Amino acid sequence: MTEKDFLPNTYKKWPKEGKVSWKAPSNIALVKYWGKKPNQIPANPSISFTLDACATTTMVSFEEKAAIDSFSFELLFEEKPKPDFKPKIQTFLERIEAYLPFLKKYHFTIKTSNSFPHSSGIASSASGMAALALCFMEIEKQLTPQMMDDHFYTKASFLARLGSGSACRSIKGSLVEWGYHEPISSSSDLYGIEYPYEVHSVFQKYCDTILLVHKGQKQVSSTVGHQLMHGHPYADNRFQQAHANLDKLRPILANGDVEEFIKIVESEALTLHAMMMASMPYFILMKPDTLEIINKIWAYREATKVPVSFTLDAGANVHMLYPEAYKEKAIQFIKDELAQHCENGGYIHDQVGHGATKIKS
Ligand code: DP6
Repeated sequence: MTEKDFLPNTYKKWPKEGKVSWKAPSNIALVKYWGKKPNQIPANPSISFTLDACATTTMVSFEEKAAIDSFSFELLFEEKPKPDFKPKIQTFLERIEAYLPFLKKYHFTIKTSNSFPHSSGIASSASGMAALALCFMEIEKQLTPQMMDDHFYTKASFLARLGSGSACRSIKGSLVEWGYHEPISSSSDLYGIEYPYEVHSVFQKYCDTILLVHKGQKQVSSTVGHQLMHGHPYADNRFQQAHANLDKLRPILANGDVEEFIKIVESEALTLHAMMMASMPYFILMKPDTLEIINKIWAYREATKVPVSFTLDAGANVHMLYPEAYKEKAIQFIKDELAQHCENGGYIHDQVGHGATKIKS
């Protein structure tokens, strides 16, 4: 599919007003997206677990307006106006207008809330942009009643990507791949797809406890972070490595080889941070407690053979990953040894989920 496939046919119906609502989950990348080309095209393919508990719920009400020369919307985050989110939404609307030509015909009231505390340092852009893209698709569906489900979800992912790259992996499926990768014939730079190969049951219920090491604002925004890969001395090798890791994951995901899974996922996390440390300007986004937790995870795994592992996003928080069968042991380990390294002892238990859901209004 190309960008043109997402341009709509003429709309059949024009409701005067309405209300739609979707809940979209966050996701955690196993092979990381880090580096992009213009128009939100990823420099390398990535794959993520869809999460379950960490999610954004968004309700969009719309009413026809007279002037159609500009966008008109108001934004309420957790019931309160949120002016600092508005520029990101404005940019999003500008990027997606060609694909949703009804956007200037309506005034939108966007009400959004997260299941996780706002100050937790968890990126909400993936779940937030995914939920908003789904709401806009729900409106487009009212204008195009014959729309097929497949198109609905693929276009929602396509639009979400234009809001935030990783958001395109928060629409549908438990394991989602985004970015063209030759061996996966259905893969695309334009949207995420449900991982098309066999996935062993151990990975269908994997757990992710997010250890909240640092709840503050990120030191480097992902937009700035991605730019650091332009002219980066190791960029080309890194992009090739992401392709190679995707290939390596295929048999591992199929046969449930947790030990080999851990090697790739931990290496991906550390490589992401190594890229930041080796860029110009350079950053260290881990905190001392991030390293304490990583070392404790390694020591505990070595001593007990319980297959706990970690991954990181572009920040100090640690996602501890483990099979569901070890949940009790992992939770005890967190309480005994890891919570002390979290800001105010904070962590959030999550697990692999199944994608976004429509909320009946
Ligand atoms: C480190 O999707 O937040 O989480 O496209 O600029 O919005 P933008 O970036 P974003 O980048 C996420 C990067 C990452 C890795 C990943 O999720 O793959």
